[in-house]
Amino acid sequence: MSPAKFRFLVTIVLLAGNIYCEAGSNHGILDAFNARVLGSGNKTLVLSHGFGSDQTVWQKVLPYFLKKGFKVITFDLAFAGAADPSRFDFNRYGSFDGYVHDVLLILDELKVDECVFVGHSMSAMIGSIAAIQRPNLFEHLILLGGSPRYLNAPGYEGGFEQTAIDQLFRSLKSNYTAWATGFASMAVGSQFHDAVHKFRKTLLAMRPDIAYFVGKQVFESDERSILREVKVPCLVIQSKKDIIAPLFVAEYLKTHLGRKGKTQVEILQTQGHFPQLSIPSLVIRAFQRIILTEN
Ligand SMILES: *[C@@H]1O[C@H](CO)[C@@H](O)[C@H](O)[C@H]1NC(C)=O
Ligand SMILES: *[C@@H]1O[C@H](CO)[C@@H](O)[C@H](O)[C@H]1NC(C)=O
Repeated sequence: MSPAKFRFLVTIVLLAGNIYCEAGSNHGILDAFNARVLGSGNKTLVLSHGFGSDQTVWQKVLPYFLKKGFKVITFDLAFAGAADPSRFDFNRYGSFDGYVHDVLLILDELKVDECVFVGHSMSAMIGSIAAIQRPNLFEHLILLGGSPRYLNAPGYEGGFEQTAIDQLFRSLKSNYTAWATGFASMAVGSQFHDAVHKFRKTLLAMRPDIAYFVGKQVFESDERSILREVKVPCLVIQSKKDIIAPLFVAEYLKTHLGRKGKTQVEILQTQGHFPQLSIPSLVIRAFQRIILTEN
Protein backbone atom coordinates (compact mmCIF):
# COMPACT_ATOMS: atom_id res chain seq x y z
CA MET A 1 0.00 0.00 0.00
CA SER A 2 1.35 3.45 -0.92
CA PRO A 3 1.91 5.92 1.94
CA ALA A 4 -0.70 8.23 0.42
CA LYS A 5 -3.27 5.47 0.25
CA PHE A 6 -2.42 4.47 3.81
CA ARG A 7 -2.86 8.05 5.07
CA PHE A 8 -6.17 8.21 3.25
CA LEU A 9 -7.37 5.04 4.92
CA VAL A 10 -6.23 6.23 8.34
CA THR A 11 -8.11 9.49 7.83
CA ILE A 12 -11.28 7.62 6.92
CA VAL A 13 -10.98 5.38 9.97
CA LEU A 14 -10.36 8.36 12.27
CA LEU A 15 -13.29 10.27 10.80
CA ALA A 16 -15.56 7.29 11.18
CA GLY A 17 -14.34 6.98 14.76
CA ASN A 18 -15.18 10.61 15.46
CA ILE A 19 -18.64 10.29 14.05
CA TYR A 20 -19.17 7.12 16.04
CA CYS A 21 -17.97 8.73 19.27
CA GLU A 22 -20.14 11.77 18.76
CA ALA A 23 -23.19 9.67 18.15
CA GLY A 24 -22.28 7.66 21.22
CA SER A 25 -21.92 10.65 23.52
CA ASN A 26 -25.11 12.28 22.29
CA HIS A 27 -27.01 9.14 22.86
CA GLY A 28 -25.40 9.20 26.26
CA ILE A 29 -27.41 12.22 27.34
CA LEU A 30 -30.72 10.82 26.18
CA ASP A 31 -29.94 7.36 27.54
CA ALA A 32 -28.71 8.62 30.89
CA PHE A 33 -32.06 10.28 31.55
CA ASN A 34 -34.18 7.71 29.70
CA ALA A 35 -35.48 10.50 27.47
CA ARG A 36 -38.47 9.56 25.35
CA VAL A 37 -40.20 11.32 22.50
CA LEU A 38 -43.78 10.29 21.87
CA GLY A 39 -46.13 11.46 19.16
CA SER A 40 -45.20 13.65 16.25
CA GLY A 41 -47.26 16.81 16.53
CA ASN A 42 -45.74 20.16 15.62
CA LYS A 43 -46.13 21.48 19.13
CA THR A 44 -43.82 20.10 21.81
CA LEU A 45 -44.84 19.44 25.39
CA VAL A 46 -42.13 18.66 27.92
CA LEU A 47 -43.18 16.84 31.08
CA SER A 48 -40.71 17.07 33.96
CA HIS A 49 -41.36 15.16 37.19
CA GLY A 50 -40.64 16.07 40.80
CA PHE A 51 -38.79 14.69 43.82
CA GLY A 52 -39.34 11.02 44.51
CA SER A 53 -41.01 10.16 41.25
CA ASP A 54 -39.97 9.48 37.68
CA GLN A 55 -41.49 9.94 34.22
CA THR A 56 -44.16 7.32 34.91
CA VAL A 57 -45.91 9.95 37.05
CA TRP A 58 -47.30 11.29 33.75
CA GLN A 59 -48.71 8.02 32.49
CA LYS A 60 -52.35 8.95 33.14
CA VAL A 61 -52.28 12.31 31.37
CA LEU A 62 -49.95 11.34 28.53
CA PRO A 63 -52.49 9.55 26.28
CA TYR A 64 -54.62 12.68 26.28
CA PHE A 65 -51.80 14.87 24.96
CA LEU A 66 -50.87 12.34 22.33
CA LYS A 67 -54.48 12.19 21.20
CA LYS A 68 -54.49 15.98 20.95
CA GLY A 69 -51.55 15.80 18.57
CA PHE A 70 -48.66 16.92 20.73
CA LYS A 71 -45.15 15.69 20.53
CA VAL A 72 -44.42 14.80 24.15
CA ILE A 73 -40.97 14.56 25.73
CA THR A 74 -40.48 12.81 29.06
CA PHE A 75 -37.36 11.81 31.00
CA ASP A 76 -36.13 10.81 34.43
CA LEU A 77 -34.21 13.34 36.48
CA ALA A 78 -30.83 12.24 37.83
CA PHE A 79 -32.04 11.20 41.29
CA ALA A 80 -34.84 8.97 40.02
CA GLY A 81 -34.45 5.28 40.71
CA ALA A 82 -34.89 4.69 36.98
CA ALA A 83 -31.66 6.60 36.31
CA ASP A 84 -28.28 5.08 37.25
CA PRO A 85 -27.55 6.06 40.89
CA SER A 86 -23.82 5.46 40.44
CA ARG A 87 -23.81 8.45 38.07
CA PHE A 88 -25.43 10.79 40.56
CA ASP A 89 -23.00 13.65 41.09
CA PHE A 90 -23.45 15.23 44.53
CA ASN A 91 -21.61 18.39 43.46
CA ARG A 92 -23.64 18.88 40.31
CA TYR A 93 -26.96 18.55 42.12
CA GLY A 94 -26.23 20.71 45.13
CA SER A 95 -28.72 23.23 43.71
CA PHE A 96 -31.37 23.25 40.96
CA ASP A 97 -28.75 24.35 38.43
CA GLY A 98 -27.50 20.84 37.68
CA TYR A 99 -31.00 19.71 36.75
CA VAL A 100 -31.60 22.87 34.71
CA HIS A 101 -28.46 22.11 32.75
CA ASP A 102 -29.58 18.51 32.19
CA VAL A 103 -33.01 19.57 30.91
CA LEU A 104 -31.46 22.09 28.51
CA LEU A 105 -29.00 19.44 27.27
CA ILE A 106 -31.87 17.05 26.59
CA LEU A 107 -33.95 19.67 24.74
CA ASP A 108 -30.96 20.79 22.68
CA GLU A 109 -30.08 17.23 21.86
CA LEU A 110 -33.63 16.67 20.64
CA LYS A 111 -33.42 19.91 18.64
CA VAL A 112 -36.41 21.44 20.37
CA ASP A 113 -36.63 25.14 19.59
CA GLU A 114 -39.88 25.91 21.37
CA CYS A 115 -41.93 24.03 23.92
CA VAL A 116 -44.58 24.15 26.58
CA PHE A 117 -42.86 23.00 29.75
CA VAL A 118 -44.84 21.28 32.48
CA GLY A 119 -42.91 21.10 35.74
CA HIS A 120 -44.31 19.22 38.71
CA SER A 121 -43.19 20.10 42.21
CA MET A 122 -39.41 20.77 42.19
CA SER A 123 -39.47 20.80 38.38
CA ALA A 124 -41.55 23.98 38.58
CA MET A 125 -38.42 25.79 39.77
CA ILE A 126 -36.19 23.86 37.36
CA GLY A 127 -38.40 25.07 34.50
CA SER A 128 -38.49 28.62 35.83
CA ILE A 129 -34.71 28.86 36.04
CA ALA A 130 -34.34 27.27 32.60
CA ALA A 131 -36.82 29.80 31.20
CA ILE A 132 -34.77 32.67 32.63
CA GLN A 133 -31.66 31.32 30.94
CA ARG A 134 -33.34 30.49 27.61
CA PRO A 135 -36.62 32.44 27.34
CA ASN A 136 -37.04 31.74 23.64
CA LEU A 137 -37.07 28.02 24.22
CA PHE A 138 -40.16 28.22 26.41
CA GLU A 139 -43.46 29.39 25.02
CA HIS A 140 -45.28 28.67 28.25
CA LEU A 141 -44.55 27.27 31.70
CA ILE A 142 -47.09 25.15 33.52
CA LEU A 143 -46.17 24.92 37.17
CA LEU A 144 -47.99 22.05 38.84
CA GLY A 145 -47.78 22.08 42.64
CA GLY A 146 -44.62 24.16 42.49
CA SER A 147 -43.15 26.23 45.30
CA PRO A 148 -40.26 28.71 45.46
CA ARG A 149 -39.76 27.98 49.18
CA TYR A 150 -41.15 25.26 51.43
CA LEU A 151 -40.13 26.80 54.73
CA ASN A 152 -42.17 29.50 56.40
CA ALA A 153 -40.57 32.91 56.65
CA PRO A 154 -41.77 36.31 57.87
CA GLY A 155 -44.70 37.23 55.60
CA TYR A 156 -44.39 33.96 53.72
CA GLU A 157 -46.23 30.70 54.25
CA GLY A 158 -44.30 27.86 52.68
CA GLY A 159 -46.03 25.28 54.83
CA PHE A 160 -43.14 23.93 56.90
CA GLU A 161 -41.21 24.99 59.99
CA GLN A 162 -37.53 24.10 60.10
CA THR A 163 -38.21 21.76 63.02
CA ALA A 164 -40.72 19.82 60.90
CA ILE A 165 -38.19 19.52 58.07
CA ASP A 166 -35.50 18.34 60.50
CA GLN A 167 -37.90 15.74 61.86
CA LEU A 168 -38.82 14.62 58.33
CA PHE A 169 -35.19 13.99 57.45
CA ARG A 170 -34.33 12.36 60.76
CA SER A 171 -37.03 9.80 60.12
CA LEU A 172 -35.88 9.36 56.51
CA LYS A 173 -32.43 8.47 57.84
CA SER A 174 -33.60 6.13 60.57
CA ASN A 175 -35.82 3.88 58.40
CA TYR A 176 -36.16 4.72 54.72
CA THR A 177 -38.89 2.17 53.99
CA ALA A 178 -41.07 3.35 56.84
CA TRP A 179 -40.43 6.98 55.91
CA ALA A 180 -41.37 6.42 52.24
CA THR A 181 -44.65 4.83 53.28
CA GLY A 182 -45.57 7.75 55.53
CA PHE A 183 -44.36 10.43 53.15
CA ALA A 184 -46.21 8.97 50.15
CA SER A 185 -49.45 8.89 52.08
CA MET A 186 -48.98 12.43 53.39
CA ALA A 187 -48.01 13.95 50.03
CA VAL A 188 -50.54 12.20 47.79
CA GLY A 189 -53.46 12.00 50.24
CA SER A 190 -54.19 8.69 51.95
CA GLN A 191 -57.62 8.34 50.30
CA PHE A 192 -55.97 7.86 46.88
CA HIS A 193 -54.70 4.32 47.42
CA ASP A 194 -53.40 3.60 43.92
CA ALA A 195 -51.64 6.93 43.62
CA VAL A 196 -50.05 6.52 47.06
CA HIS A 197 -48.86 3.08 46.06
CA LYS A 198 -47.40 4.43 42.83
CA PHE A 199 -45.51 7.28 44.49
CA ARG A 200 -44.26 5.02 47.28
CA LYS A 201 -42.84 2.67 44.68
CA THR A 202 -40.80 5.37 42.96
CA LEU A 203 -39.70 6.78 46.32
CA LEU A 204 -38.40 3.35 47.29
CA ALA A 205 -36.61 3.03 43.97
CA MET A 206 -34.31 5.90 44.95
CA ARG A 207 -31.09 5.19 46.79
CA PRO A 208 -31.75 6.49 50.34
CA ASP A 209 -28.61 8.66 50.51
CA ILE A 210 -29.61 10.32 47.22
CA ALA A 211 -33.19 10.81 48.43
CA TYR A 212 -31.86 12.45 51.60
CA PHE A 213 -29.53 14.75 49.70
CA VAL A 214 -32.08 15.81 47.08
CA GLY A 215 -34.93 16.12 49.57
CA LYS A 216 -32.92 18.40 51.80
CA GLN A 217 -31.78 20.54 48.87
CA VAL A 218 -35.36 20.98 47.71
CA PHE A 219 -37.05 21.49 51.08
CA GLU A 220 -34.45 24.03 52.17
CA SER A 221 -34.29 25.90 48.86
CA ASP A 222 -35.38 29.49 48.43
CA GLU A 223 -35.94 30.64 44.85
CA ARG A 224 -38.27 33.52 45.63
CA SER A 225 -35.81 36.09 44.32
CA ILE A 226 -35.68 34.61 40.80
CA LEU A 227 -39.42 34.67 40.14
CA ARG A 228 -39.48 38.21 38.83
CA GLU A 229 -36.93 37.27 36.16
CA VAL A 230 -39.27 34.71 34.60
CA LYS A 231 -40.68 36.50 31.55
CA VAL A 232 -42.45 33.53 30.00
CA PRO A 233 -46.23 33.31 30.55
CA CYS A 234 -47.08 30.87 33.33
CA LEU A 235 -50.01 28.78 34.40
CA VAL A 236 -49.94 27.75 38.05
CA ILE A 237 -51.98 24.65 38.83
CA GLN A 238 -52.45 23.62 42.40
CA SER A 239 -54.73 21.50 44.53
CA LYS A 240 -56.97 23.32 46.94
CA LYS A 241 -55.33 21.46 49.79
CA ASP A 242 -51.73 20.41 49.35
CA ILE A 243 -49.47 19.89 52.33
CA ILE A 244 -46.34 20.37 50.21
CA ALA A 245 -47.50 23.60 48.56
CA PRO A 246 -50.27 25.48 50.38
CA LEU A 247 -52.62 27.91 48.61
CA PHE A 248 -50.56 30.84 49.84
CA VAL A 249 -47.80 29.68 47.50
CA ALA A 250 -50.06 29.79 44.42
CA GLU A 251 -51.00 33.37 45.23
CA TYR A 252 -47.35 34.20 45.82
CA LEU A 253 -46.38 32.79 42.44
CA LYS A 254 -49.17 34.75 40.79
CA THR A 255 -48.00 38.05 42.21
CA HIS A 256 -44.25 37.47 41.94
CA LEU A 257 -43.67 35.71 38.64
CA GLY A 258 -42.20 38.15 36.12
CA ARG A 259 -45.00 38.98 33.70
CA LYS A 260 -47.37 40.90 35.95
CA GLY A 261 -50.98 40.05 35.24
CA LYS A 262 -49.88 37.30 32.86
CA THR A 263 -49.76 34.45 35.34
CA GLN A 264 -52.94 32.40 35.49
CA VAL A 265 -53.81 30.29 38.48
CA GLU A 266 -56.04 27.22 38.42
CA ILE A 267 -57.01 25.78 41.76
CA LEU A 268 -58.11 22.17 41.52
CA GLN A 269 -61.01 21.18 43.74
CA THR A 270 -59.12 18.29 45.25
CA GLN A 271 -56.46 17.44 47.78
CA GLY A 272 -52.91 16.25 47.50
CA HIS A 273 -49.65 16.98 45.76
CA PHE A 274 -50.07 14.47 42.91
CA PRO A 275 -53.32 15.32 41.11
CA GLN A 276 -51.89 13.96 37.83
CA LEU A 277 -51.91 10.55 39.54
CA SER A 278 -54.92 10.86 41.82
CA ILE A 279 -57.41 12.83 39.68
CA PRO A 280 -55.88 13.13 36.19
CA SER A 281 -59.14 14.35 34.62
CA LEU A 282 -59.01 17.53 36.73
CA VAL A 283 -55.45 18.21 35.65
CA ILE A 284 -56.29 17.65 32.00
CA ARG A 285 -59.18 20.11 32.24
CA ALA A 286 -56.85 22.72 33.71
CA PHE A 287 -54.24 22.12 30.98
CA GLN A 288 -56.92 22.35 28.33
CA ARG A 289 -57.80 25.91 29.13
CA ILE A 290 -54.35 27.13 28.36
CA ILE A 291 -52.80 24.81 25.84
CA LEU A 292 -55.73 24.10 23.63
CA THR A 293 -57.00 27.62 23.32
CA GLU A 294 -53.60 28.54 21.91
CA ASN A 295 -53.41 25.72 19.42
C1 LIG B 1 -49.21 22.76 13.23
O1 LIG B 1 -50.35 21.95 13.01
C2 LIG B 1 -51.55 22.66 12.90
C3 LIG B 1 -52.70 21.67 12.83
O2 LIG B 1 -52.29 20.38 12.46
C4 LIG B 1 -51.48 23.57 11.68
O3 LIG B 1 -52.68 24.31 11.56
C5 LIG B 1 -50.30 24.51 11.83
O4 LIG B 1 -50.17 25.30 10.67
C6 LIG B 1 -49.02 23.75 12.09
N1 LIG B 1 -47.98 24.70 12.40
C7 LIG B 1 -46.77 24.61 11.87
C8 LIG B 1 -45.81 25.67 12.31
O5 LIG B 1 -46.44 23.77 11.10
C1 LIG C 1 -38.45 -0.19 59.07
O1 LIG C 1 -39.85 -0.07 59.06
C2 LIG C 1 -40.55 -1.19 58.54
C3 LIG C 1 -42.03 -0.88 58.56
O2 LIG C 1 -42.33 0.11 57.66
C4 LIG C 1 -40.24 -2.41 59.36
O3 LIG C 1 -40.88 -3.54 58.79
C5 LIG C 1 -38.76 -2.63 59.43
O4 LIG C 1 -38.47 -3.70 60.31
C6 LIG C 1 -38.03 -1.37 59.91
N1 LIG C 1 -36.60 -1.58 59.82
C7 LIG C 1 -35.79 -1.32 60.83
C8 LIG C 1 -34.35 -1.57 60.56
O5 LIG C 1 -36.19 -0.89 61.90
